[in-house]
Amino acid sequence: YNRIGIMGAMVEEIDLLHKHVEKTGSFVKAGIEYVEGTLHGRNVVFCKSGVGKVNAAVCTQLLIDAGVDCVLFTGVAGAVEPSLNVGDIVVSTSCLQHDMDVTPLGFARGQIPFQEVWEFQAAADLVELANHACESLFPGRSVTGKVLSGDQFVADRAEVQKMHEELGGACTEMEGASLAQVCVMNNIPFVVIRSMSDKADGSAHVNFAEFTVQASVNSHRIIDEMIQHM
Ligand code: ADE
Repeated sequence: YNRIGIMGAMVEEIDLLHKHVEKTGSFVKAGIEYVEGTLHGRNVVFCKSGVGKVNAAVCTQLLIDAGVDCVLFTGVAGAVEPSLNVGDIVVSTSCLQHDMDVTPLGFARGQIPFQEVWEFQAAADLVELANHACESLFPGRSVTGKVLSGDQFVADRAEVQKMHEELGGACTEMEGASLAQVCVMNNIPFVVIRSMSDKADGSAHVNFAEFTVQASVNSHRIIDEMIQHM
């Protein structure tokens, strides 16, 4: 990869990139700042998309238009897989929009009507790189799995159980499947790396801010480790 795109949704998620990337330039489009530079000698472009699928879609397309040849997402998520604890990591094998719901017309939950693919596959080489990074930095604390995205902060145990049983999700967040869809539409490889900030069960407000900082650090360290081996 010659030009690596890195995206986060919130300031905590890209703060460490601001500190560690040697900047060579920047530009603003659609109100989003794209910072160009080098990280461990590799060309990178990073940006903060803002929260939610629309922000992530616009941001991903503009990142691709800026010439990146892969996209890495770093951030936090709510755990769906019951074995996951706060601070554990999910590397996306695929991403699906859990809030895409045209079930009244007979489509499956998550299915985008009239489209053959609605579960978007991450690039196998990037998944492997991310797994290696996870195993060396946080042994035994990561899984690969399906990332469920929607414009909702999930805070309900019953909903989480459904997301796990019906959709086979590992974690839930608000951008991954949007980024994934845009990458697939452009034939650009991607992987989403999410560290768990909460269990999506309604207790997040208690310590979301604190866990988000720690989880963002974990997620950043994985990206940093990956780039050294890309
Ligand atoms: N990001 C972090 N935790 C989340 C949750 N519970 N739901 C949606 N996005 C999240």
